[in-house]
Amino acid sequence: MGPIGESTKLSIRGVGKTYGAVTALADANLDLREGELVTLLGPSGSGKTTLLMTVAGLVPPTTGDIWIDGRLATHAPPDKRDIGIVFQNYALFPHLSVFENIAFPLRMRRMAKTQIPSAVARALDIVQLPHVAERLPRELSGGQQQRIALARCMVYEPSIILMDEPLGALDRQLRDQMQLEIKTLHRRLGITVLYVTHDQEEAMAMSDRICLMNQGRIAQIGTPADLYFSPQSLFAAQFLGESNILGATVTAGSNAMALVGPGGITLRAKDLGGAPGAQVNVVVRPERLRLLGDGEAEDNIAAGEVEEVVFAGGYIRYFVRVAPEVVLAGKQLTDERAGTLQPGSRVRVGWGAVHSLVLPAR
Ligand SMILES: Nc1ncnc2c1ncn2[C@@H]1O[C@H](COP(=O)(O)OP(=O)(O)OP(=O)(O)O)[C@@H](O)[C@H]1O
Ligand SMILES: [Mg+2]
Repeated sequence: MGPIGESTKLSIRGVGKTYGAVTALADANLDLREGELVTLLGPSGSGKTTLLMTVAGLVPPTTGDIWIDGRLATHAPPDKRDIGIVFQNYALFPHLSVFENIAFPLRMRRMAKTQIPSAVARALDIVQLPHVAERLPRELSGGQQQRIALARCMVYEPSIILMDEPLGALDRQLRDQMQLEIKTLHRRLGITVLYVTHDQEEAMAMSDRICLMNQGRIAQIGTPADLYFSPQSLFAAQFLGESNILGATVTAGSNAMALVGPGGITLRAKDLGGAPGAQVNVVVRPERLRLLGDGEAEDNIAAGEVEEVVFAGGYIRYFVRVAPEVVLAGKQLTDERAGTLQPGSRVRVGWGAVHSLVLPAR
């Protein structure tokens, strides 16, 4: 085995699940290194919970295998997997004190009675709520209840934690705070975490790697930056961040860089992604668009009328109709030029060829 952080903790191999005619999950392949935090990100119904449940041992897969610490675990019962689970509806026992809630999994595992108080105290310390042991769950805020759920999951020191939208019920501010806390805990304790969310910002903020899912399949696996800067499909480009998507045709001719886009705009890309005649999609992130000064040159230039300007404090978002059917979305830091932008203004926007990401047409 390699040093900590390099050995494979969890290996998902060809895992699929069908319910009658419904394919909930197909051929999932994913490895988690020890101590890694990987997010399953995808729209509703894309198979995230199904995949998590097969890892937990709560849903038997129809195909494929789960390996934990190099041992085949596909058919191991949930309590033999050294896995902790936190669900969205954190489901603390309402009639039990915080102490008894956290002690519950220890009693289930027949820990010696004399050891339970110190184990519970340690778990409460970790989630920074040492003083609430005697309270009932309803005497805690939502965020505190969520932390108790986390403590209950960590108290028996599993080496893998699965979390299914654990922050879904919390308001924005608490979510941000809990995201940070989970991340810090994960780093400090070196636990391997598989985390489910459908919130792309949450996934980007928390993950070592993101496993993007769509319609029961893994669409792409990579670091948040990989997925943002090098999406391999229109789905990935649209699901993470904002995108301008321009259908275009690769043209032959002297300029090997040319694509002809909607409304006859000539587009330039570093990598054409196809032979002359190929139908492609050009993806450009809004923050890559620049408002050009008079006569200013750029690899890609589109001119048009500003339809809308949205002031968002430090940055503005603007929308320019550059062809009858094409509106480009731009985003830039607020400066003097941006400050004068009005609906109805004529502008030229531009972007570098390196920022035209070319994907095959659907
Ligand atoms: N027990 C079941 N019986 C039949 N179909 C199921 C069952 N469980 C899940 N499915 C189907 O499998 C697909 C994937 O469901 P899953 O719960 O894994 O999605 P999800 O990505 O977790 O979605 P959400 O973000 O809404 O929680 C869905 O189409 C769902 O309807
Ligand atoms: Mg789900």
